[in-house]
Amino acid sequence: MKITLALLLAGSVIVLMAWTTPLAASSKSVQEEEKHEESEHEHGEDHEMLEKQMKILKKATRRLKKKFRKKSTQAADVLKDIKRCQGALFLAKDIYPGELKGKKNASNRVVYSSIMIDCLVASLKAEKSALAGDLKQTAIAFKTMLAAQKKGHDKFRDEDD
Ligand code: HEM
Repeated sequence: MKITLALLLAGSVIVLMAWTTPLAASSKSVQEEEKHEESEHEHGEDHEMLEKQMKILKKATRRLKKKFRKKSTQAADVLKDIKRCQGALFLAKDIYPGELKGKKNASNRVVYSSIMIDCLVASLKAEKSALAGDLKQTAIAFKTMLAAQKKGHDKFRDEDD
């Protein structure tokens, strides 16, 4: 009787193990998949957010270039677009999409934000000069912004973007 009971118990344990093991394995892989999809999604979102800020920068710098070429431009005329650049750069410095060029080197994260900050600081200098009515210094600071743009793009933007 005892032997029969023991055999029945052992059998149930084996059946239970055979049933739960694949379940556990499959639920783990679902979790892993979800995690993977989530991070892919986040990377995609980062990419879109960065693109959005870059487009704002593109429009504002295009207008600024035109204004700096025009003889009649006053310092106050460039303030609005300089501020637009600042807003975009302030957000962009913290957006670092996973798939950026050269991403494997973790220190690139620091380089990326540093170049963004250089660009932002230059835009603040441009604002300060514009407020003081000094269009010449404003234009110099704007050139520094464009130099930071070039540096950032050379390092982090793919040629086919
Ligand atoms: C005045 C400053 C800047 C301007 C006008 C500018 C403009 C642009 C434009 C027009 C694009 C293409 C966006 C699109 O795909 O539609 C772009 C992409 C990009 N820019 Fe800038 N940029 C500036 C500064 C910077 C800086 C300082 C960095 C890095 C430190 C940077 C990093 C990038 C990267 C990584 C991309 C590719 C984004 C992606 O793959 O989605 N940019 N930028």
